[in-house]
Amino acid sequence: MEIWSIGIGRMIATALENNGATVYIVGRRLEVLETAAKESNKFGKLIPLQGDVTSKDSLLSLVETLGSRHGYINLLVNNSGVMFAPQSRHSLEPVKDIKELQARLWDYSTPEQFAKTFEVNCTAVYFTTVAFLELLDAGNHKGGIHGVTSQVITVSSIAGMRRDSQMFSAAYSMSKAAVTHLGKLLANILKDQKIRSNIIAPGLYPSEMTAEMWSEELVQKGVPLQRGGEIQDMGGLALFLASRAGAYVNGTLHISDGGRLGLFSSTY
Ligand SMILES: NC(=O)c1ccc[n+]([C@@H]2O[C@H](COP(=O)([O-])OP(=O)(O)OC[C@H]3O[C@@H](n4cnc5c(N)ncnc54)[C@H](OP(=O)(O)O)[C@@H]3O)[C@@H](O)[C@H]2O)c1
Repeated sequence: MEIWSIGIGRMIATALENNGATVYIVGRRLEVLETAAKESNKFGKLIPLQGDVTSKDSLLSLVETLGSRHGYINLLVNNSGVMFAPQSRHSLEPVKDIKELQARLWDYSTPEQFAKTFEVNCTAVYFTTVAFLELLDAGNHKGGIHGVTSQVITVSSIAGMRRDSQMFSAAYSMSKAAVTHLGKLLANILKDQKIRSNIIAPGLYPSEMTAEMWSEELVQKGVPLQRGGEIQDMGGLALFLASRAGAYVNGTLHISDGGRLGLFSSTY
């Protein structure tokens, strides 16, 4: 298996399916989902569905499909995310003067990329959750593990807590801070329906998003445990939250980063 094609969503989906769940995976590129489903399924229950979380029509169509096939879901994982890398690779070098700082900050993202980051990483998480509420509510009445209420898991990032100047993408960091807050807020908004909401904040995991920035030096110097996150780390955490062991966990943030966040000035 090619390491960069793994991705956090695939790790979570694989862990859940390989332990008995029926798991639908959603993305815009159907062929990527089909490859993941073919390579990672154990029981033939990893099912690809094409969809765009920024489109209301697409969300409603996904809800319709799942509603007609099953009538409920027990877990919604909001994993989709984007991060736009700066045009130039200069983020870790000190600036000479204010002009250089200004040029660098212009370069980090265009206004369109800034808005897109918020649209996918934050706004879409809100509307995806809203779209699936009836199916999550139905999950509390049919199916599922005894004692485990329906749940929304949102994949945020430790970037949402970093305050250091090496955090080159303010848009990404801010979008993840916002979605972490949304995850906490949802636990209260959905409390009367007994739908839980929890947040996972990963550190460095191999994926398409991190492929370009990944290096052995980054892992050795940038992670106290000196390795990237693996499927057992992310999949195990998702299994805990989805299982009876995690059934009392609600409105909380779970960092999985090998200690990386501790190396930076942060809000944690
Ligand atoms: N890898 C890390 O080190 C790391 C660290 C912290 C947080 N995270 C977060 O983890 C999540 C997963 O990222 P990843 O690292 O696994 O990167 P990735 O492999 O690039 O996965 C991102 C996924 O989001 C999907 N996506 C993007 N826009 C979408 C849209 N409009 N509608 C539906 N799906 C969409 C992509 O599929 P399509 O392009 O086919 O739509 C892709 O499957 C993200 O929220 C990311 O911010 C990752």
